[in-house]
Amino acid sequence: MSIAEKFVTMEYGPAPEDPKEAVAWLERHGRRFELFIGGTWRAPVAGGYFDTVDPSNGEKLAAIAQGNAADVDAAVRAARAASPKWRALTPHIRARYLYALARLVQKHSRLLAVLETMDNGKPIRESRDIDIPLVARHFYYHAGWAQLRDQEFPDYEPCGVVGQIIPWNFPLLMLAWKIAPALATGNTVVLKPAEFTPLTALVFAELCQEAELPAGVVNIVTGDGSTGEALVRHADVDKIAFTGSTEVGRAIRSATAASHKRLSLELGGKSPFIVFEDADLDSTVEGLVDGIWFNQGQVCCAGSRLLMQESIAETLMSKIRDRMSSLRMGPPLDKAIDIGAIVARVQLDRIERMVAQGVADGASCWQPQHVLPERGFYYPPTLLSNVHPTSIVAQQEIFGPVLAAMTFRTPKEAVELANNTVYGLASCVWSESINVALHVAAQIKAGVVWVNCTNMFDAACGFGGYRESGYGREGGREGLLEYMEPAWFKHAPALPAAIASTPTQVPGPTDDRPETSTPAIDRTVKLYIGGKQTRPDSGYSMEVRSPDGRLLGEAPLGNRKDIRNAVEAARKAESWAKATAHNRAQVLYYCAENLAQRGSELIHRLAAAVGEKQAATEVELGIERIFSYAAWADKFDGAVHNPPFRNIAIAMNEAIGTVGVICPTDTPLLGFLSLVLPLISVGNTVIAVPSEKYPLIAADLYQLFDTSDLPGGAVNIVTGYASQLLKTLAEHDDIDAIWCYGDDATVAAAKAMSIGNLKQVWTNEGRIIDWFDPKVAEGRWYLEHATQVKNIWVPYGE
Ligand code: NAI
Repeated sequence: MSIAEKFVTMEYGPAPEDPKEAVAWLERHGRRFELFIGGTWRAPVAGGYFDTVDPSNGEKLAAIAQGNAADVDAAVRAARAASPKWRALTPHIRARYLYALARLVQKHSRLLAVLETMDNGKPIRESRDIDIPLVARHFYYHAGWAQLRDQEFPDYEPCGVVGQIIPWNFPLLMLAWKIAPALATGNTVVLKPAEFTPLTALVFAELCQEAELPAGVVNIVTGDGSTGEALVRHADVDKIAFTGSTEVGRAIRSATAASHKRLSLELGGKSPFIVFEDADLDSTVEGLVDGIWFNQGQVCCAGSRLLMQESIAETLMSKIRDRMSSLRMGPPLDKAIDIGAIVARVQLDRIERMVAQGVADGASCWQPQHVLPERGFYYPPTLLSNVHPTSIVAQQEIFGPVLAAMTFRTPKEAVELANNTVYGLASCVWSESINVALHVAAQIKAGVVWVNCTNMFDAACGFGGYRESGYGREGGREGLLEYMEPAWFKHAPALPAAIASTPTQVPGPTDDRPETSTPAIDRTVKLYIGGKQTRPDSGYSMEVRSPDGRLLGEAPLGNRKDIRNAVEAARKAESWAKATAHNRAQVLYYCAENLAQRGSELIHRLAAAVGEKQAATEVELGIERIFSYAAWADKFDGAVHNPPFRNIAIAMNEAIGTVGVICPTDTPLLGFLSLVLPLISVGNTVIAVPSEKYPLIAADLYQLFDTSDLPGGAVNIVTGYASQLLKTLAEHDDIDAIWCYGDDATVAAAKAMSIGNLKQVWTNEGRIIDWFDPKVAEGRWYLEHATQVKNIWVPYGE
């Protein structure tokens, strides 16, 4: 074809990237790789190897060591041995190592990009221009945090040895997201790369050697899911950070429940891509190309659900089809390719299966007339329309280049459809009206909202999910907190195991009991649900006795049904979640005022359970604690990030939602306030189970809330056996988080039982928290757990 003809057709010729250097690197290693443990390369104990394959042609690239439990153990030992020295280094020295790694990534960027593309199948354009630069940026950014760590987090300690498990879709980028914050905060690491894409992690191990990182600070153990499982179960690992499927995330939550391992999970998504009728449709289509066809759609935050306002649906669909026809698909090392290969045969099969199921469910499938390469694993860009919101292709993660399109009429409907998913990782909103876009962004339950842009990432902006997309953030200040703990908390003594309490069950409706003249009997309390005092469904109550055995009164025995009612009431208490921070503060101050007014009578009653002195202190500190959280209510602000693009990212601290709380037993008033107040001060609604020892505190609390203008349902109180009520709360699918204070067994149960909808779980880890010491009993740490960060990205400029 002549040049003149080419100008007319505008066809691309092939522009292959030369893999020479990458091939030479593979050859230099005899195409066989060992495990990187304690700064040296070791053969796997069991001697097994597996193949890693180039998905663009199905050819073997190299043999990779299959690590087993013994190898993981060796790596954890190496990381443990390296830990004291590494954490004792000055922040500046750690910063230098991270800086060196950033420089080395840049220096070897071409090798890394080419190898990434060969191992994963993603277009070289993406690995060269997006993945690897972001990896370098991550190490630079965290070199900065390493430098500032002691100044900015003076009372925090690193977790210790961290086990990290990463997926295959962004192999080196996920490694950077995991390793950089871990090292910056003083942890040592055992990382397991995904079995489909281990190569760039092995180059990274060489870069650690080149940077002369102390032996054992970073260990790389390759292998499959069983290797990951061995790491998760290893007793000497202090924290697990995982990115991958929700299914495996759930298994990890379950496997770590009985340990004190910290856990962060970055899981799947089914992110909505919402287009309003006033959107710039041409930009929208380009955004969509990045949203769903980037990395062949194998992106946890892919905009895989297109929600279009009905009035523009037809025009938009036609523009999308036109653009899909011009996407170039083929060998990923070709620099002009938009869509490369799917990572592995099993993933390709999974995509084919799910699309077939979607079509069987009634969806129409459209694909451009692409000729697929003969070898390798390819799947064409695919548009599914007429998708029912309940169809598998609208609900489940396909992890392929498949877009499911639906329509809506009003912004309200758009939000409902967007949130009609168990996930909550990311979302896009396209509208030229900033008011509409931000109004919708605020209502979407997702950790990231991109306004008029897609798939923007930066080390300074936390990334992570709501709901079954996981918990914890990677990047930003909040990402660092996942790798550290307050020193006081780490070293707090263990709470003695609770003696299983068996309070006597008393039959009969509680409020029909005659008032007794015996002074020891205080009163018969009720449950407090939706702002009303209610009788328990069971019709039973429990006796409440003083330490010397006197009967103090009776408290209702709440059951599953009472919890269900309380959850419903908490869900309906939207006015609290939507109240301004100033209004919340006012209500809390009013609570403090009312508690002060009733102080002496409350002390008198509480004294029967905890003694005069403690009762007086609980009330006095209780007033202070309420004041503290009234103060915090309008001060726990988010941040505005300035990523290196023409965007701002607004990081909002959002309430988690509805939270079940198991309160401490020994400090009935102060313990209750210390857990419930941080939660409601930021707009959560709560179902609290008060001290099992002295549940009569409920009456004082609901009178306090009733007289302080707290909207009904914002706080609900269900008395009863904590262990039974914990189970119902933890298993309830409409509760977003559990806060549980208790002994080791109780907090393990809270974690294990919460896996259904992957609730966030905060516990005292079976340790004692001194509720009388404001330095440890209140403040930011609690507020950080009571909120989740949502980053809203907004572009600027013409
Ligand atoms: P996966 O969740 O099984 O694998 C992710 C990582 O976890 C890999 O390193 C794997 O070896 C490891 N792993 C597997 N089982 C484990 C266990 N029991 N304990 C500890 N580690 C374990 O994901 P997979 O099978 O590669 O992909 C299946 C589906 O998961 C995809 O189709 C996609 O829908 C989703 N996925 C989501 C990702 C995300 O970023 N959210 C990333 C990868 C997959």
